[in-house]
Formats: sequence, structure tokens, C-alpha cells
Amino acid sequence: MLSLGINIAHDRGASLVKDGKVICAISLERLDRVKHSSGVTLPYEAMEYCLRVGNCTYKDLNVIVFNYPHHFKAYPVIQKIKQELYSLCSTIEFVPHHLAHAFSTFYASSFKEATVLICDGAGNAYKGDALDFWKKNNKDFFKTEIDIEAESGYYFNNNTYDVIYKRWQTRSGKLQILSLGRMYWEACLKIGMNILDGGKLMGLAPYGEKLIEPEEIITKYRNGFDFSIDINKIKKMPNKTFLDKANIAWIAQYNLEEILVWLATILCRQTHCKNICLAGGIGLNSVANERIIKESPFKNIFILPASDDAGIALGCAYFGYYNILKGKERHPYPMYTGRSYNDIEIQKALEGLNYYKSDNISKEVAQLITEGKIIGWHQDKSEYGARALGNRSILCDPREGKMKDILNEKVKHRESFRPFAPTVLYEEADKFFSVDGSEYPYMLRIVDVLEDAKTKLQAITHVDGTARLQTIKREQNPKYYDLIKEFYKLTEVPVILNTSFNVAGEPIVETPYDAVKCFLSTEIDVLVIGEYIIKK
Ligand SMILES: [Fe+2]
Repeated sequence: MLSLGINIAHDRGASLVKDGKVICAISLERLDRVKHSSGVTLPYEAMEYCLRVGNCTYKDLNVIVFNYPHHFKAYPVIQKIKQELYSLCSTIEFVPHHLAHAFSTFYASSFKEATVLICDGAGNAYKGDALDFWKKNNKDFFKTEIDIEAESGYYFNNNTYDVIYKRWQTRSGKLQILSLGRMYWEACLKIGMNILDGGKLMGLAPYGEKLIEPEEIITKYRNGFDFSIDINKIKKMPNKTFLDKANIAWIAQYNLEEILVWLATILCRQTHCKNICLAGGIGLNSVANERIIKESPFKNIFILPASDDAGIALGCAYFGYYNILKGKERHPYPMYTGRSYNDIEIQKALEGLNYYKSDNISKEVAQLITEGKIIGWHQDKSEYGARALGNRSILCDPREGKMKDILNEKVKHRESFRPFAPTVLYEEADKFFSVDGSEYPYMLRIVDVLEDAKTKLQAITHVDGTARLQTIKREQNPKYYDLIKEFYKLTEVPVILNTSFNVAGEPIVETPYDAVKCFLSTEIDVLVIGEYIIKK
């Protein structure tokens, strides 16, 4: 049974699930090269990319499921979109935004039972039924205050789910009724960042200090789950200097963490289930994720790497298979969900460049990394979501602090306060990081760098002594694992600095051609595509 999931509006994309197995998931931004690709049209390029990977056509699909988030421009054209979808498949379904997030993370996890917490900027209005609202109130639609999903909780048990928590926010955010995600984006706006720059705000927070007591901003109501946020307190904070901005980041981050731990604790008491799945853009906040697992009663956590709206397409596809088609099969979530490129495609992209084929790519590239080279690393299938996990990565030596500055200066051009993340061989992780034997496969949790390892890992240790870790096992990605192992043999450090293969403001590279373009337009020293090496 084949289910195609589609996300419309921002972070458009598509995903194909066959009998519970993720065949493909891709964000349109990787293909149209527009960051967070946004628009109220169907992402045909992503849809057809999925069909190509699945070796099928629209006629083979059993269902198409779609979602458009809280994006009011979408409502007037949604009928047209539905008609377009009906011309492709006879079974079409809409799934509310937070439910799509919930399906994405629960069915990608290996849990048979889980509590699911969804936090983002905004979900759907009127329980996903805004289309009717639009039709009835067309004239006054944009003036009318309506409810939109703020935070949601679900309990999943195999093929059933219950909604166990729903907090609504007003569209305007007035009356202090706004989501945690909106509080976070208001803080971003206050210091001149984009609303989707939450990762930067999180990186800035440890440089700040407490100027306002958190209780002055967030009020928790003890008779239930509700809380209110006085965003004006944050809006009135000074924002001129670096420290001003860091103080704003600090308070937003601290409040976010406090509420999430509180919410998670209440939900766990309700379900008595010790597994938690997270999604929604807030799921990318690795610092908050770590506090949830350390301070709430949950014992096991899963966070979808595409926690933001990029992951909605997967949630839609899962919803089609498990909820509409009543499928029952479960399969492990693959770390890499794109398509791979063959030698002919790679060679075509490399035409005119001085390249050669290596007979031991891991050894050769590890040696280059020890020499201080910055490597553009493009292998096999791409990752889904904002984290590069070793197939579309820029790699370099994590040992010396200056590598961070060199990388920023030559390639990434990111704010200097933002940390770079490490990948470590899973079995060596406890010698360098405060891990507990768990896997950290998606760079969505933080750990402390052990005291005596900090000098060996200067380029990936954040100002607060933490790192946003990825552990890697050989079966997850043999080529990437072997590369780090070779680096370990040469340096006695089983860690590599891994950042996404893109420059600031651009999507992560997808095709070999994108990788070549990025290589030629930056000061990346060496490009590696498959077994091919190109040096500047
Ligand atoms: Fe969302």
C-alpha cells in the first residue's frame, strides 16, 4: 500500500511510505534551492522525486494526505489544490498540523507506545477546519480572532491514538495567549533574527544572564495544564548590545525549558507511559530536549530529525498508511531518505574539473582533515530535516579552536557565537562526552564534554562546556564511520566536526551539481563525491 504525504505553505515537501516503510522524504528547498521553500502550490518537484525513488506513478498511489499549516493565504486556494490532488489520486485526505507532527515522530520511533508532545509556532485553526470558516466568514476572515493550535499532547499505542492535551492560542497572540514557539520567535524578532532562526537564539542563550525572574513572564495555572506568556516583558528588554541580545535569548530559552519540563511531567503522569516522542519546530531545541529527558519522569525519548515543518510531509504519509489505509506494519526509520546518485551523474557534475577516483576514500580524506583541510562530503542518499548526518556534510578537524573561525571565515559565515557539532564513534563516546550508553543519532540532544577532553575538542565545545552530539555506528553509515575511524587512528581522537553542506541562507546541497556549485563558490578545500576527490 502506497501513501504520499504532502506539506504545503512553508517548508513544502513530500514523502512516500510503502507498507509502513519510508521509501523517500524530501523537502522542496533541496530541489528548488529556496530556503524554507514557501508557497501555496503543490510541491510537484518533491512529489515526483519521491515517485522516482519509489519507482511508481501517481496511478499506483492508494492515498494522498496533505496539510497546510497556519498560513492564511492558503485558505482561498485550497479548493483548487484539492481538485489538483483528485486528478492524481481518488483518495485524498487532510490531516491537522499537530496530528501530522505527532504521526511523523511516533511512527519514526521504535516505540510501541508513547506520549507525544508537539510544540511549534502555530498549527491549524479550528481543529484544521479553517476552510469552512473561510467560506462562511470570507469577508471578515482576516479581522476575526480565531483559535490556532499552540501545544498538543497525544497518547499513541500501536495503531490507535488519543488527544490528551490541547492548548489553543489566539491568532493575534493578544491576551497573552500564544504558543511557546511564538514566544521564541518574538524573542528572535526582538534581536533582529528571523522567526525561523531558533537555533541561533539557542546558541546565544548561554552568553546571557537572568535579568527578569521567569515567573514575571510565564504564569502557570495550577488547576490544569494552562499557562500564559507575557511577551511584552521580553519586548521591553533592551536589545542594543551583544549582551542585551544574549539576555533576551537567555530568558526565552529558560522559560521554554521550564514549561516543557512542566508540561512533559504532567503528560507523563496522565499516560503512565515512560516513552516520549517530540516534534514541532521546538523539537530542534537540543538543550530543552535534554532537560526533558533529565528532569521529567520520561525514561526514553525520540525526536524526529525533521521536527520542524519539513517533517510534516512524512507525518502525512504515515497518517495515510496507518490511519486511512489501516496498515499495521512497522519499520525502522531510515536516517537517509533521499535518492543516491550514480557514477554517471557524478561524473557529469564534475565535468571540466580536475578530479580522480580514490581507492581508499576514508584513509585519504582522514589524512586531509588532519592537515587542516575543509572537506565538502557528499555521499549516497540525503538526510531529511535540518541536520546533516554524514552524507551532506562539511567536515573538518575538531581539535583546535581556530578551526571554528577558519570554517566560518572561509565557508559558513555564521555568527561566531554559534557552536559547531561533533560526530563521535558510538563505542568511543563515553571517553569524551558525558553519555549514558544511549545513542544520539540525530544531533538533537546535548551532552557535556568531559573536562579532560575539552582541550582536545576545542572547535566543537560550546561556551557552556556542552556539545550537540551525533554518535555513529558502522551499520548506520559505513563510509562515514570508516572515515572517523581512520581519523581516530591518526590522531587518537574519534571525533570529527560535522556541519551541514551549505552556506548561510542556502538549503543543504542535494545533487552532485549543487555540491560542486557550493565548492566552487566558497573556500572549501576538498570536495568528495562518492569515491571522487577534487582539490583546489
Ligand atoms: Fe509545525
